[in-house]
Amino acid sequence: MAIRTLGRRQAVAPAPTADETAWIEVAGLEKLYRPRRSEPTRALSDIDFRVRRGEFVSVVGPSGCGKTTMLKILAGLIPKTAGTVRVAGREVTGPLPQIGMVFQAATLLPWRTILENVMVPVEVQRLDRARYREQARRLLSMVGLDEFEGKYPHELSGGMQQRAGICRALVHDPAVLLMDEPFGALDAMTREYMNVELLRIWRESGQTIVFVTHSIPEAVFLSDRVIVLTPRPGRIAEVVDIDLERPRDLGVMASDRAGVYVDRIRRHFHATGVMG
Ligand SMILES: Nc1ncnc2c1ncn2[C@@H]1O[C@H](COP(=O)(O)OP(=O)(O)OP(=O)(O)O)[C@@H](O)[C@H]1O
Ligand SMILES: [Mg+2]
Repeated sequence: MAIRTLGRRQAVAPAPTADETAWIEVAGLEKLYRPRRSEPTRALSDIDFRVRRGEFVSVVGPSGCGKTTMLKILAGLIPKTAGTVRVAGREVTGPLPQIGMVFQAATLLPWRTILENVMVPVEVQRLDRARYREQARRLLSMVGLDEFEGKYPHELSGGMQQRAGICRALVHDPAVLLMDEPFGALDAMTREYMNVELLRIWRESGQTIVFVTHSIPEAVFLSDRVIVLTPRPGRIAEVVDIDLERPRDLGVMASDRAGVYVDRIRRHFHATGVMG
């Protein structure tokens, strides 16, 4: 998983008219890929949703339904075909520095140590290195990598690299965090631990998070709302409010209420024969 700080020079302040109930606003979003040498693919269709400032929203849907495409459009990394996308009251037309993104595939820089990799966003945005180095070390310690800060990526396991990538996304405290299956390659125990830690960080930081996952229980555990997408072209099948009290610990997943949410979301995929 690669974490990249997006952009360099765009204004970071929210627009004066920014609406906290629509911190992220997506309306009539369509995406059609038009490769030069093959048929076009309609990846997303009729996507409309809003995310409140400080909200935790997950997106679930079958493989190939357009989840990564949607996050990349939100991050300003690829163009949309139609519709509007606004973050903090500003139309997204390119990368914004207040957005941190955790990519689905790992790409730590092989020639940099783990600590130097985590510090990349700080350097790109020319922030105070001494101050953020402490933050980087705190994050590495949180994910159990404090003894590995001087190692190089190839000296770490895949799951360890992924954890370093998460630190890189968090180091500059971005206001909006977009996470594309960040815990997919972790073992079950580390994944549960990272889920709990992510909720703690989110609670303390007040970040707005859009989190893509294949795991329905993970989406229910983490989220205020879960957006369920249909198979490609991804459309919104349902938005499920997760009314479980916070702060949450893993015990909440044993509750009947959590089970009802998981079943309700899973039913969408049983109906279409994909995802379990
Ligand atoms: N650069 C591209 N050019 C052409 N088609 C693309 C491109 N990127 C993605 N697609 C197509 O768009 C569709 C959606 O892809 P996307 O990566 O957004 O799916 P996803 O929901 O993230 O899938 P997964 O769960 O497997 O990660 C797929 O059919 C894919 O083949
Ligand atoms: Mg994807």
